[in-house]
Amino acid sequence: MSGNQLDQKSKAWSALFSEPMSALVQRYTASVDFDQRLWRADIQGSLAHAGMLAAQGIIGAQDLADIQRGMAQITAEIESGAFQWKLELEDVHLNIEARLTQLVGDAGKRLHTGRSRNDQVATDVRLWLRGEIDALAGLLVDMQRALVEVAAKNTDTVMPGFTHLQVAQPVSFAHHLLAYVEMFARDAERLADVRKRVNRLPLGAAALAGTSYPLDREAVAAALGFDGVCENSLDAVSDRDFAIEFLAFASITMVHVSRMAEELVLWMSQNFGFIDLADRYCTGSSIMPQKRNPDVAELARGKSGRVVGHLMGLITLMKGQPLAYNKDNQEDKEPLFDTVDTLAATLRIMAEMVAGITVKPAAMEAAAKRGYATATDLADHLVKKGLPFRDAHEVVAHAVKLGLQKGVDLAELSLDELKALHPLVGDDAPQVLTLRGSLEARNVRGGTAPAQALAQIARHRARLA
Ligand code: ARG
Repeated sequence: MSGNQLDQKSKAWSALFSEPMSALVQRYTASVDFDQRLWRADIQGSLAHAGMLAAQGIIGAQDLADIQRGMAQITAEIESGAFQWKLELEDVHLNIEARLTQLVGDAGKRLHTGRSRNDQVATDVRLWLRGEIDALAGLLVDMQRALVEVAAKNTDTVMPGFTHLQVAQPVSFAHHLLAYVEMFARDAERLADVRKRVNRLPLGAAALAGTSYPLDREAVAAALGFDGVCENSLDAVSDRDFAIEFLAFASITMVHVSRMAEELVLWMSQNFGFIDLADRYCTGSSIMPQKRNPDVAELARGKSGRVVGHLMGLITLMKGQPLAYNKDNQEDKEPLFDTVDTLAATLRIMAEMVAGITVKPAAMEAAAKRGYATATDLADHLVKKGLPFRDAHEVVAHAVKLGLQKGVDLAELSLDELKALHPLVGDDAPQVLTLRGSLEARNVRGGTAPAQALAQIARHRARLA
């Protein structure tokens, strides 16, 4: 471009155009309202590109110095809020380039040599996302730590484990929380894996076919901390699979958060009463003075829908796009930004809330007893004495029936009552039927015995240190 044409884009793109863009089209196609968030990555990418252009002798040393000076001023202007973003300059890239040219003249106009906004925007999004990925990795560590520390205090706290939301077998509260630690640990692994594919440099692909200038792509990649370059220029500018993959990671993580949130809501309800959440995470009701609602957990559960929606949006956006770049791709940013914001805020607040949870062991134990959670233990006891499992299963059904008739837990039946059910019932049966006995018995690797929970906790603490 020559003269002040970048500034005059509102009039027309170039001499080729016979009329300016309509105001409606300008608003419809502009992205600067949201993509200005990429400004730091955009400047970082431009400086690396300019440095390489100068090193390759494509622009002069003075041009580079001018560009660096201009970008320093633009950085200061954006940071202070003085920078004037212009809708008629469409996006973050053209806004910054136009200001640069205003500040330093011809050097600013040379910056775009061997580059297109197509490889520029792909570079910016990857750079920005990489930074967010690193921050999210830290938040996932915080979440796991919070869960591990609450677990460490509750290896002997017994609660009912559920299947079909019916009381099944006793588990420790620690064991239950540690299940979520496993989920978040896998999420962290997935995130680290996504990062590898995000961290590749598109610059040098130019509009779609590469460029005729002798660019040193590896030098730019090294300057920007990328692990390598995108190997095909068409692919580099057109695919957003790295972003889709990130949204898949985020969706799975939010689903894990959502399941945990759902359990917190259930556990806090009067019908369970297993836990309490601190007042600062609850809200009241404008009409019912007795209410304390777990809004934070409910919102976290709700926000998972929104993140999964973004995944659907972006993956659908990609489908059917011919190679290479299409303007459709401008639509990748809002879902990506909102996902990062939603996930970060959710992880932060949920980790804090979990760390401050009040556990009510008596209510948990009572619920386990009410649900005959140790019925399997009585069956196992009979099997160990030689009774086939199916027969034992039937004997225990009678035991539960008796318990229900008398309104007591299995452990509260007398030894005589138990022995009357089957001659193979041994003197040690009552001990086997206690919640603690049941817990201790499941001392297989990955099982709910306190010794196993302690081993899990030690492993996680070492891993998260
Ligand atoms: N704002 C555009 C985006 O987000 C930048 C790339 C535009 N390239 C183009 N040839 N129109 O994708």
